[in-house]
Amino acid sequence: MSLRAVVRGTGHYLPDRIVTNAEFEATLDTNDEWIRSRSGIERRHFVAEGETTSAMATAAARAALEDAGLDVADVDAIVLATSTADLTFPSAATMVQAELGMTKGFAFDVQAVCAGFIYALSNANAMILSGQAQRVLVIGSESFSRIMDWTDRSTCVLFGDGAGALVLEAQNGTGSPEDRGILATDLNSDGRHKDLLYVDGGVSTGTTGYLRMQGNQVFRHAVEKLAATANTAMARAGVSPGDVDWIVPHQANIRIIQGTAKKLGLPMEKVVVTVQDHGNTSAASIPLALSVGQARGQIKPGDLIVTEAIGGGLAWGAVVLRW
Ligand code: UT7
Repeated sequence: MSLRAVVRGTGHYLPDRIVTNAEFEATLDTNDEWIRSRSGIERRHFVAEGETTSAMATAAARAALEDAGLDVADVDAIVLATSTADLTFPSAATMVQAELGMTKGFAFDVQAVCAGFIYALSNANAMILSGQAQRVLVIGSESFSRIMDWTDRSTCVLFGDGAGALVLEAQNGTGSPEDRGILATDLNSDGRHKDLLYVDGGVSTGTTGYLRMQGNQVFRHAVEKLAATANTAMARAGVSPGDVDWIVPHQANIRIIQGTAKKLGLPMEKVVVTVQDHGNTSAASIPLALSVGQARGQIKPGDLIVTEAIGGGLAWGAVVLRW
C-alpha cells in the first residue's frame, strides 16, 4: 500500500470584465491579428477596482470545496501559488484562510511565477505523503493586470486575471501507475535567466513595479524545457506519452503549447487549451485549465494527465497525475 494525493474536487473563478484584443487597438500600435496569430489569445479577464488576488482565490476555493462535497473544516492546509499577493505580507493564503472561516491548520504562499502551481502541487503532495496534512486546498490566483505597463505592447496584451483550485486528499493506493492521484513531480529552476522575465519593483525599490519580459528569449527556452520536464516526470511515474489522456499545459502561448505537444509526440486533441479565453494567467492558468477541462467534459475520473509550466526565474516543472 502507498499513500497518494488524490484530486477530490476542482473549481475556478474569473472576473466579470472581459477585454477583447480589439480593445487594445485604441491605445496601442497593435491589432487583433498580431495578438491572435503570435499568442493564440483572443480575450482575457481583468479584475475590477478593489478586486483582489485573495478574493478570487477564495471564490475558486469555495467552488473546489463544493465540487469535493467538503467543508472548510475538513481541510488541514492551504497552499496558494501567486506572484501578485494583495500585500507584501501576510500571505494571500492566510487572507483566504480567514475569508473561508478556517481557524485551524496552516496556510502559505508559493512564489514561482508561472510555474507556481506546479511548485504548489509538488509541495502539497510532499506534505500529504509525509503525513503533515490529510487534505490540502491548492490554489493558483493572479491579478497580473495590476503589474502591466499599459504602454508596453509586447507584454500588456498577453496576460489576464483569474483563479483555480484543487482539493487534494490522502488516499491509499497500490503504488502502481494505475493509482489515482499524483504519480510523480519534477521541479527545476535556473536563476542565471532571472533577467528574461521579472518585475522591476518590490521591497528594494519601494514600488510595485511592472512586468518586463524578453518574450522571444523565454519562448526559446520554453518548448525544450517543458518537453524535458514532462518526459522526466512521466519516466518517474512509470508511464509513457502513449498512456497520456490529457496534457494540461501552462497557457502562455498557443505556439509553445503546440510545439511542446509535438515534441512529446502527442496530438492537439489531447491538449486542454484555454489560452484563447484567459490569456496568460501565470500561476492560475493550470488550475483554471483543469477546472474548465473538467467542466467541458474533457477530463474524467481515471484520466492520466501531464501538466507542465515555465516562467520567471526561470522556474519550470511538471506533475503527472491520474484524475
Ligand atoms: O508565462 C511565462 C512565460 N512566458 C511566455 O511563455 C511568453 C513567451 N513568449 C511569447 O509568447 C512570444 O515570444 C511573444 C508572444 C511574447 C512574442 O512573439 P514572438 O513571435 O516571439 O515575437 P517577437 O517578440 O520576436 O516580436 C516580433 C515583432 C517585433 O517587431 P520587430 O522588432 O520584428 O519589428 C515586436 O516589436 O512583433 C512586434 N510586437 C508587436 N506587434 C504588434 C511585439 N508586441 C506586439 C504587439 N502588436 N502587441
